[in-house]
Amino acid sequence: MKISSTPHWEGRKKADLLVLPFFQDKKGAVAAFAKDPFAKAVAPSLQSGDFKGKKEETHLIHLNGKVESRLLLLGLGKKEEVTVEGLRRAFASALKVAQKLRLQKLSLALPLHLPLKEEELFTGIIEGMMLSNYLAPDYKNKLESSERQLLVEELQLVGANKEHKALVDEKLAIFQALAFTRDLVNRNADEVTPQYLEKAARGLKKKFPHLKLTTLSKKEIEKEGLHLLLAVNQGSDKDPAFIVAEYSKAPRSKQRLVVIGKGVTYDSGGLNLKPTGGMETMRYDMAGAGAALGLLYAVCEAALPCNVTIVIPSTENSIDAKSYKPGDVYQSHSGKSVEIGNTDAEGRLILADALSYTLKHLKPTHLVDLATLTGAVRIALGSEAIGALSNNDELCRAVEEAGKKTFERVWRLPLIEEYKEQLKSDIADIKNCSTKGEAGTIIAGIFLEEFVGKTPWVHLDIASTAFTPEGKRYYPKYATGVGVRLLFELIKNNFI
Ligand code: BES
Ligand code: MN
Ligand code: ZN
Repeated sequence: MKISSTPHWEGRKKADLLVLPFFQDKKGAVAAFAKDPFAKAVAPSLQSGDFKGKKEETHLIHLNGKVESRLLLLGLGKKEEVTVEGLRRAFASALKVAQKLRLQKLSLALPLHLPLKEEELFTGIIEGMMLSNYLAPDYKNKLESSERQLLVEELQLVGANKEHKALVDEKLAIFQALAFTRDLVNRNADEVTPQYLEKAARGLKKKFPHLKLTTLSKKEIEKEGLHLLLAVNQGSDKDPAFIVAEYSKAPRSKQRLVVIGKGVTYDSGGLNLKPTGGMETMRYDMAGAGAALGLLYAVCEAALPCNVTIVIPSTENSIDAKSYKPGDVYQSHSGKSVEIGNTDAEGRLILADALSYTLKHLKPTHLVDLATLTGAVRIALGSEAIGALSNNDELCRAVEEAGKKTFERVWRLPLIEEYKEQLKSDIADIKNCSTKGEAGTIIAGIFLEEFVGKTPWVHLDIASTAFTPEGKRYYPKYATGVGVRLLFELIKNNFI
């Protein structure tokens, strides 16, 4: 989507649809923008009460105008109650109307007099529009071209001047990255293999040559001793991948954030096979890796002055005669031996090796991992919050604060010491899961904690937030791209 701006009505370009925002007032809808040339066209809809200006309400009016052919009245709700998130939702509903009508050129009168800072105003509007302006790849063969959905291509902000260009550019960077992440997650698992993720990382390196990219081949993974990653990989006909990409744009800073993304490109469960109904969406088990790659994309594109590294352990978790086995013990990279209680608890295994590799080679000052780790996080928090587990109050609070800003809500769960016992093994240093069947998300966090040491660390369980089968608000169906905006915000507020 291209975004342009013009300070005055007279300067605006042709568009298919002009969006006019309104507040809801006691007497009905009132314009939220500067005096316009459309008062006459709009009056009947207001006077009749057909349009009230309620939150996310939309009302279409046809015009025979030379500049635009339709007006869309958009409700923002009560003026005093408008929030950034409210703007996101309202402008997403406007975009959806445009999308249904297959209109690709939009103009938008900038709302004024809101109880928000300029930056918040632009954030709400642009994010609402752009988050929803995405189409997941589909594999339909026989679709009439008139049935194909289209993306909105141009958005013109009327009443804005060029001062906002930096902010708009940053949003554009984030949204390019989000589409990249969502595509990685949405495409077939047979296409998005560990090798494909590696190729995506190489693509980033080509676009941003200052990145330092290290990819380990299976031989190198063996040599490095990432045996848990290799164990999970045993049942797969595709080699594992281990991807490290380092971005260094703050030479004087001592800080380095390392973001680790779980890259299970398909999770069948392994020998502890998932049942029907539990497997059909498991291509999204690499959403953590996708978000880490997208984050790096956005950071590079926006040229943030920070030091960030992403680490992606990747494999399929497949079922095969060679599959790793429940009851067997495997050695981790850290030296701890792990008894496999359940081959479906594979994410924590590859993360454990990635964490220990990171501590040994990458000098992190702060660690965040993003992983679709447990079904239990949906039971604990539903699909509106990311579960967080952390050994560090300050870093965890910073992540929570970032989440409030981007509305990717983060809710911390406790690492309860007493539960450690459930991971005790008779034959190994630790077991990868408990048989008690409670507090699954916490238990997974406790397992990871064993491999982290003292470095400040936050584990983010995005199993319930990375994918929306039906779509919601400004999230189109399937991959949400959760984590990209969140960690970009974290970096902006704490690492530059
Ligand atoms: N990838 C799954 C977690 C998951 C479940 C993500 C549903 C998205 C939706 C993970 O590897 C897994 O299978 N976890 C098990 C752990 C259990 C065996 C201890 C789970 O949550 O059932
Ligand atoms: Mn699993
Ligand atoms: Zn998994």
